[in-house]
Amino acid sequence: MDDLRLFAVAGNPVLTSKSPLIFRRAFEAAGMNAVYIRLAMRDAGETAQTIRELGISGATIASPFREEIIPFLNKLDKGARKTGAANIVVNDGGSLTGYNTERENTGTTPTANAGTMGGDNGRKAEAPDGLLAENARAFRIFTGREPPLKEMEKALHEKDRPHPHRICVIGFMGAGKSSIGPAVAVKLSMPHVDVDASIEKKTGRTIRQIFTESGEEVFRRHEKSEIEGILGLSRCVVAAGGGSVLDRESAKSMKDFCLVVWLFAGLNETRRRIGADSSRPLALGKKTLDELFTGRIPVYARTCHLLVKTDEASIDEVAERIVYESDKAFGG
Ligand code: S3P
Repeated sequence: MDDLRLFAVAGNPVLTSKSPLIFRRAFEAAGMNAVYIRLAMRDAGETAQTIRELGISGATIASPFREEIIPFLNKLDKGARKTGAANIVVNDGGSLTGYNTERENTGTTPTANAGTMGGDNGRKAEAPDGLLAENARAFRIFTGREPPLKEMEKALHEKDRPHPHRICVIGFMGAGKSSIGPAVAVKLSMPHVDVDASIEKKTGRTIRQIFTESGEEVFRRHEKSEIEGILGLSRCVVAAGGGSVLDRESAKSMKDFCLVVWLFAGLNETRRRIGADSSRPLALGKKTLDELFTGRIPVYARTCHLLVKTDEASIDEVAERIVYESDKAFGG
């Protein structure tokens, strides 16, 4: 059982945020099994819902949502009550508390955007020490411990460089990978590859046949070699099968050589979408699906650069959000 704790920054746009790098350093220094992800959110309601659905322990909230999120929270600290805005949210078993530490800032008001993707060129939306200070306060609130500032500071000079022309959509069955992947590809005029479809074409068998006739292990080997091949393409959008990130090497290659977008639909919506789909050998009974769903969350969280929610948005809206994030980070 993976006891990974999730933390996040929520914003729109959010791919430019350096907070995941800063927190990676902090968690490492503190010996915590935790990951900090970017939530590319449509609005504050979606942000609060995602925090609850994924069991995210704590999140920093970027400026477009700081006021809007208040009605979705269960409790507010003094600062959040006074200002009517929250820049930090803590999740205690689904009960969300909003904090506002902005009055403690000496510099500019932090947003999610620290400039063009991990670089020094381009727009500087805030002083780095503003971001560092905000994240240090968030760390204190999230963990009750003193932030390892020296370590966190090192991340300000680090770069997180997802590949701008290779986009990989990952996520659980039914999240929309096979429909959203092609839509992103059309918008960016890039070729699209669907890993499952390629395997079916190459083997002349359906995924279901491969599972029943040869077993999951054989399927995973096909999946791995297909992904290796795709990563040699210079421009593409890849819809990876739901379990492709279970292979550590494949997951690492995706993270190193692609922009990895986690498409996420909540459990109820996922059940509704795939409940009776016999082409998906792993979508068996309800219990199995719930267990698979929960068990996969840490794997997707570790692999992604960005999470986009797909429950209530159209294919076009989700694709547009991905293109928008990529334009903001890579300069369109
Ligand atoms: C799987 C997901 C499926 C397919 C296979 C295994 C998984 O792809 O690769 O049935 O392990 O989650 P989709 O996520 O496209 O349904």
